[in-house]
Amino acid sequence: MKPEYKLAPSILAADFAKLADELAKLKNAEADYVHIDVMDGMFVPNISIGIPVVRSIRQYSDMFFDVHLMIEEPIRYIERFAKAGADGITVHVEACSDMDKTIDEIEKAGVKPAICLSPDTPYESVIPYLDRVYMVLVMSVYPGYGGQELIESTLVKAKAIRQYINEHNLNVDIEMDGGIKLSNLEHVLDNGVNVIVAGTGVFKGELYENVKNFKNAFASYKNI
Ligand code: DX5
Ligand code: ZN
Repeated sequence: MKPEYKLAPSILAADFAKLADELAKLKNAEADYVHIDVMDGMFVPNISIGIPVVRSIRQYSDMFFDVHLMIEEPIRYIERFAKAGADGITVHVEACSDMDKTIDEIEKAGVKPAICLSPDTPYESVIPYLDRVYMVLVMSVYPGYGGQELIESTLVKAKAIRQYINEHNLNVDIEMDGGIKLSNLEHVLDNGVNVIVAGTGVFKGELYENVKNFKNAFASYKNI
């Protein structure tokens, strides 16, 4: 059965001085999610945006906010990101001392829970939670920066997770994040990924053209 393919442009690569305009462009271009990269300078060696920015852009967009928390112990901030307007919250297995409690907190806040693993983390680390999340985010770069090259070994993990999902009849999306371009998209989809995060691949150059190209590639991709 062919999964639904979705494009989640990462606003980390957008012009932060014009975020409302950039979000309007994503909506007009019919992107599926807004991928919001939150970084705390502790879990990753970079600081990006936080709760006030999510709250303010929420007023300018009705798109699905796919909030990727690259922060230590995200359980501390779930409620505030939910109140600010997150629709889905993705937490790193490496950053949570109690993943079940963190997922409980996301559910309690009325937001969709997702889990994420960095390139060096074995895929088995997410298996115990697959029946509790709507999506697994497999990082294809080390979290912290946009514009990096996709790490090939992460595709093997995505394929293994997709196999487990299929074998257990679970309904879980697999999102991949980092270094994805039109040139390697088919290879990524071949490994069971169905939600594509692209930062520079969408915001560098002509946004509408870039989104259209990704969406056309989804439409013409063979059945798997
Ligand atoms: C990296 C972020 C990614 C990144 C993707 O930590 O999680 O979402 O912004 O950017 P590109 O698509 O440019 O690699
Ligand atoms: Zn991300």
